[in-house]
Amino acid sequence: MAETSEPSASASKTLPWTSDVPDGRTSEQGSAIDPRAFRNALGQFATGVTIVTACGPQGERVGATVSSFNSVSLDPPMVLWSLDKRAMSRSIFEASSHFAVHVLTLEQQELAQRFARRGAEKFEGLQCGDGLGNVPLLTDCAACFECETRHRYDGGDHVIFVGEVRRFKHITGAPLVFHGGAFAEARLLSGAAIDAAVDEATGRFGPDFLCYLLARAHFQTYRPLAAEFDRAGITETEYFVLSMLCIRDGLPYTALCRLLEHTGHAPTRVDIAAMVGRGLVRLAADENGAIHLTDSGRRTYIVVLSTDGRIASKALSGFSAREVAEFGGYLRRVIQNTNADTPDVWTYRQDQT
Ligand SMILES: Cc1cc2nc3c(=O)[nH]c(=O)nc-3n(C[C@H](O)[C@H](O)[C@H](O)COP(=O)(O)O)c2cc1C
Repeated sequence: MAETSEPSASASKTLPWTSDVPDGRTSEQGSAIDPRAFRNALGQFATGVTIVTACGPQGERVGATVSSFNSVSLDPPMVLWSLDKRAMSRSIFEASSHFAVHVLTLEQQELAQRFARRGAEKFEGLQCGDGLGNVPLLTDCAACFECETRHRYDGGDHVIFVGEVRRFKHITGAPLVFHGGAFAEARLLSGAAIDAAVDEATGRFGPDFLCYLLARAHFQTYRPLAAEFDRAGITETEYFVLSMLCIRDGLPYTALCRLLEHTGHAPTRVDIAAMVGRGLVRLAADENGAIHLTDSGRRTYIVVLSTDGRIASKALSGFSAREVAEFGGYLRRVIQNTNADTPDVWTYRQDQT
């Protein structure tokens, strides 16, 4: 059962976090507090964005976009948020034994706007789950905390709700951020992704460790391809040579090696001689050793490439066209960030080192 503490006369005049300021009306410098400036100053505190929902005794579903959410205690697990006393949903939130806090992802900005509209029919067309105390649960949020209301405090023109978390879940997703009165996104500072996912003392890492994800995705897409090399009668190094020459035929030996450096499979001159012997490539007599694909080399590569296509389709199944384009963009940035010195074959000029 929720406990309500009514404000004392003096407390109601005092801003909660400036109680050392006489009667809450003056700043340290003694100037009157301008509400707009105060709001702007508070807006400098970047927060996540949540939607808090509840259900009234007659099954009335309410929800509001809330950035005043915060953690309170780990043991027992408790969280808080505050609601404007003028909110139309106030009486339902106050009557409800439970509430649920949904932490929004970057993709849920529209949902945040919908639940910030006063009194609107906010749940129309939304598929909701049924939570503790019949509280409506929104889907696809970054996190959801189902809480039992434990305390309600007066907080000036807001009511502060403190809840004990009974159930929670989360997914990995980019969070929606609110800063300076506008929606924003969070950008990780370098190293932050690793700091968050790895416990350096024990060496344990969590499922969000990006190096693990990248390596696993690489192995799971590359190994089935490598199995095709045997069937096609070529070595791994020959596969890389053929793929480069398919894009840029006639590369000199040194350029080919430079372009294949990142694979750890740059060919030796003996490798190239073996490929010439098996009719996969030929050396131009007149052009300072430029290496050319033969028809047989191209056909061999194309057979392996069709497997490559199947692996890529499987790997990206369920992705929207936009996600595929975004994913490609992210991978290009990873490639740029990790080895910007390796030229790419599409733009490589022979005078480049
Ligand atoms: C990003 C954002 C954060 C908000 N945070 C709060 C909050 O912490 N407390 C609050 O009472 N209202 C907050 N609001 C405003 C409420 O979402 C809004 O007043 C809502 O319409 C209240 O719903 P109701 O009047 O239908 O109950 C926020 C709005 C936005 C856009």
